[in-house]
Amino acid sequence: MCGIFGCVLHEGAHAAPIIHSALKRLEYRGYDSVGEVTIDNDRLTVKKDSGRLEEVHAKYNLDDLPGPVGVGHTRWATHGRPVYENSHPLVDCKSRIAVVHNGIIENYLEIKKELEAKGHTFQSRTDTEVVPHLVEDYLSHGMSLEEAFRKTVNRLEGAYAIVLTSAEQPKTILCARQESPLVLGLGDGEYYCASDFAAFLPLTRKAVLLDEGEMAVLDPKGVKILKLKNAAPVKREAITITWDPESAKKQGFRHFMLKEIHEQAQALRDALRTEQVYYDQFSRKIIEADKVFIVACGTSYHAGLVGSIALAKIAGINARAVIASEFSEEALDLVTSKTVVLAISQSGETMDTLNAVRDAKAKGATILSVLNVLGSTLMRLSTVYIDQNAGPEIGVASTKAFTSQIAVLLRLAATIGRKKGEVSAKEISELENALHKTPALIQSILNTKVEDVKKIAEECDGASSVCFLGRGINVPTALEGRLKLLELSYVPAIAYPAGESKHGFIALIEEGFPVIFVAPNDDTHKRIVGNIMEMKDRGARIISIIEEGDEEIRNLSDRVIEISESLPSLVTPLVYVVPLQLLAYYLSVIKGHDPDYPRNLAKSVTVE
Ligand code: F6R
Repeated sequence: MCGIFGCVLHEGAHAAPIIHSALKRLEYRGYDSVGEVTIDNDRLTVKKDSGRLEEVHAKYNLDDLPGPVGVGHTRWATHGRPVYENSHPLVDCKSRIAVVHNGIIENYLEIKKELEAKGHTFQSRTDTEVVPHLVEDYLSHGMSLEEAFRKTVNRLEGAYAIVLTSAEQPKTILCARQESPLVLGLGDGEYYCASDFAAFLPLTRKAVLLDEGEMAVLDPKGVKILKLKNAAPVKREAITITWDPESAKKQGFRHFMLKEIHEQAQALRDALRTEQVYYDQFSRKIIEADKVFIVACGTSYHAGLVGSIALAKIAGINARAVIASEFSEEALDLVTSKTVVLAISQSGETMDTLNAVRDAKAKGATILSVLNVLGSTLMRLSTVYIDQNAGPEIGVASTKAFTSQIAVLLRLAATIGRKKGEVSAKEISELENALHKTPALIQSILNTKVEDVKKIAEECDGASSVCFLGRGINVPTALEGRLKLLELSYVPAIAYPAGESKHGFIALIEEGFPVIFVAPNDDTHKRIVGNIMEMKDRGARIISIIEEGDEEIRNLSDRVIEISESLPSLVTPLVYVVPLQLLAYYLSVIKGHDPDYPRNLAKSVTVE
């Protein structure tokens, strides 16, 4: 979703190229237009348009904007199509105030009408444009810029991160947040604000978190935080970001997604390093809860499904996984002050997940979370959180975050299982040992199976649809394989519990229809063999992910990818998903798409 970066640099410094590079680091969030504003000699200069960052730069040369203070924005359209007029920054009538915004201002029509009646003219169809005009209006009543900004933001309803620059105070940036992400960076006499740390990571690792309902003033003297409600000053300690700036670069890989697929072995080792004390805290709260819900979206929801099955199987915990955007309909009525909501979110900023968490919290529920971005809104809403420790995930399609989420959830289930004595200590130890083997196993897939997967991708090119089937713990793996493939290759894909396929889906099967089975040698094996035969008999082209040496399924399949080690069933999704990630990646590349920036998608979905 929208990316924001603002900077106040030393006198004489040139902000524009720094803003340009920061916007590049925010590209992964997903966007359809770009803009920058800088201030020099008390004059604002704006350049913006729809299109990719480098297209807009080629057209306008973003780097020659003058001055040491400025703001950049990548916009993911919500109100108003992605065209020049609707791109940010948006300005007031006299072009003295420029504003960029991430989120949605729900009451903008009412404010717009009021301002139009006072003679303000609007150039765009965005909700954002009311902000510079309202500030302009308050300034005309003699207020200071800070007060006019605070008063304006207090009138807004909805979710927003807003950043303003003005020729009235050319060395100052004002920003505020409510529900949408915004963090501050502290350099050496230079100050930044951004949608996420990645934007300023090469400039500084010292950050300050802005809470909801707060605004900040950045100027050459430093950063000042105030409560929006009453302008009360807020003291906040800086934190140090541990992410290595190098890890947010491609490092020789053609795409971030491929790099992140390859980082999974290390990401898993890092995820498994989290101290046991956090799992113990989670366990206590889950064991004591009257109900447990897991909430998440997309890939994180699939990890949640794995967690839900694992908690049932080895911990005797009934934890229902609910798609976050459906939580208020499906589950909120059941939430009490004794309920635990376990939220899973790589970014910690997904609005649907945050809304579910806020609703549950309002009813007194305990919020536990598994997240990858420290300082995120989800972290701040949580009673206890576990850091996945996967490092920055830039590719829009989640890969290493998924496998590390599963590792965390399996370790959690094992901790509870051990505490409750639900299954034998031997079984739990086997699972824990297998978890520690997964990094090496994933590495061996990456070392030896890529060419086989590429061949399958070539054969799938031209298919009008692809189907993924699995059973038990690998139903979520099939769902995840499908999501990756369709979002990156734009090929409609289907995923089912394999046993359910004969209740409808099988009608689609005709000669050559690719059906991919996630088929480890666990206690679902016999039944999945039956499902493979059902598909094969009707002409499906069978592709199976199997354990090495599984001759039965190998003989039934047109192609197989073999996983070299036997694993406890619960651990298999972690490893068996890797060939599916590679398949989606290579099919996307074969089709000439950019797997890092699939169309219409955003990395961080900060709107409902
Ligand atoms: C798909 C994908 C998305 C995210 C979803 C939730 O490849 O990445 O489905 O998983 O938008 O994002 P987080 O985990 O940041 O809440």
